[in-house]
Amino acid sequence: MSIHTQKTKKKVTVSTIRGMKSVEPITMVTAYDTLFSKLFNDSVEIILVGDSLNMSFSGKQDTLSANMELMIYHTRAVCNGADTPLIVFDMPFGSYTTKDRALKNATRIYRETDAQAVKIEGGKERAKIIKTLTKNSIAVMGHIGLMPQFVRSEGGYKVKGKDEKNIQKLVQDAKAIEKAGAFAIVVEGVKCEAAKAITEAVSIPTIGIGAGIDVDGQVLVWSDMFGFFEDFKPKFVKQYLDGGKLIRDALGVYVDEVKNKKFPSSEFTY
Ligand code: KIV
Repeated sequence: MSIHTQKTKKKVTVSTIRGMKSVEPITMVTAYDTLFSKLFNDSVEIILVGDSLNMSFSGKQDTLSANMELMIYHTRAVCNGADTPLIVFDMPFGSYTTKDRALKNATRIYRETDAQAVKIEGGKERAKIIKTLTKNSIAVMGHIGLMPQFVRSEGGYKVKGKDEKNIQKLVQDAKAIEKAGAFAIVVEGVKCEAAKAITEAVSIPTIGIGAGIDVDGQVLVWSDMFGFFEDFKPKFVKQYLDGGKLIRDALGVYVDEVKNKKFPSSEFTY
């Protein structure tokens, strides 16, 4: 864990995260339940309850059918297991289409969960919505570049920042989000030159995923980085564990022992 929390195990806040820009890289992972948020509690600054759970946990093709009820259920579970990292609630598709709807849903999130911030996908066009939330005491993390909630309207997951015009658009998006009061921005699926330009253009931290090294922190989806989600592996995912294999191997031993009447032995018997 970071220098900010290691010795004292103090709760990470949005001010902690703001203060880490250019001081120390920020670590963020997703979690969807208590079991894993407990495991991640002492190691990372931020846990994102990402709507990616709709794919890895619920087996859907994309994140779009995640709704408020599902996200609230999982966020409560994550909060039950983690008392140190900042917990960010990923607002689901359709929950922030207007200022009023965004405020109503974000207020509900603060009332019904212990999440400290919400994440919203979108650039300049979402700045007014972000401003409405931040003016009403709700902390917002932006999300630009490849935005999974746009997968159907854009016809796939498209890497961004491939030319100067698009890099400038992303920089303007980031500046608008910063001006609207966001405390950090996720920058996903962009060429590294674009991520660098965005990071240099704003005074709030950028947290990259598939955005190279020149950002203020990194985020990965836990089931990708630990090898539990095996349907596909994006280029940017480094697999730190072969979780799927570990589980299958261990399960194989259990099945074998049961079939061969080796489990439970006397050690596991009353
Ligand atoms: O839903 C999610 O897990 C995310 C990350 C990819 C940043 O938004």
